[in-house]
Amino acid sequence: MSHESQFCHERGLPFLEAQSLTKTYRVGGSTVHALRDVDFTAAQGDFVVINGPSGSGKTTFLNLISAIDRPTEGDVLIEGASTAALSERQLAQLRKDKIGLIFQTFNLIPVLTAAENAEYPLLLQKLSRAERSDRVQSILAEVGLEDLARRRPNELSGGQRQRIAIARALITQPKLVLADEPTANLDSETGAQVMALMRTLNEEHCVVFIVVTHDPAVAGYARRRIRIHDGHLMEGGTDDLVDSAPKSPS
Ligand SMILES: Nc1ncnc2c1ncn2[C@@H]1O[C@H](COP(=O)(O)OP(=O)(O)O)[C@@H](O)[C@H]1O
Ligand SMILES: [Mg+2]
Repeated sequence: MSHESQFCHERGLPFLEAQSLTKTYRVGGSTVHALRDVDFTAAQGDFVVINGPSGSGKTTFLNLISAIDRPTEGDVLIEGASTAALSERQLAQLRKDKIGLIFQTFNLIPVLTAAENAEYPLLLQKLSRAERSDRVQSILAEVGLEDLARRRPNELSGGQRQRIAIARALITQPKLVLADEPTANLDSETGAQVMALMRTLNEEHCVVFIVVTHDPAVAGYARRRIRIHDGHLMEGGTDDLVDSAPKSPS
């Protein structure tokens, strides 16, 4: 199960393309330029880490490429198809079918168990109870939580909560997973374990991962590194070594 080429024969084909993305917000009487004319392409199997300081436009960028928000100018193409002309309903469908999200604060539902949180997105799909249960078991095993399936989030550590959130993001078998500061609420060792898990899942599932973070240590897990500063994106090099030294944040 671990050799990536078996599972990712589409590796390298373009999956997502951002064209001249610009986002401006009007705040009071002034204009905030959150993103300025950003071009970006992610290929099948990519694991991209986008590093940048607070306020540089990271969350704005993720919201645009996941079609949660619309750009002021520019377009996002997913598998070659423009999203600009899609209705809200079509965008919601696209997100449900193709995109998984991971957040800084995990965003789990407190009254549900680990297994129920992971299963939650499947309730929107036409799957039998048995199929859902198979998927839950298999994804919880992949994130190393099969023994904790019946615990609620407040009975789990931060790292375990983020593992559930990762399971929930992957359970619909999306083609793209976006993570916004996934390690920001974890200590550095737990953060490293969570990043290593995402990298393993990227290799085994051929899912595109795009991780945005202000933490320079996270860049060590990238196949591809990008810097974002003041709404501009800059390519920061490619590296296939998981444990290579992170680039200085300067
Ligand atoms: N909804 C909004 N309304 C007004 N300004 C916003 C909004 N969202 C973000 N911004 C501004 O856009 C810039 C980029 O924000 P953001 O994408 O959240 O940065 P990051 O995630 O890198 O911290 C910041 O100056 C922020 O204040
Ligand atoms: Mg942010």
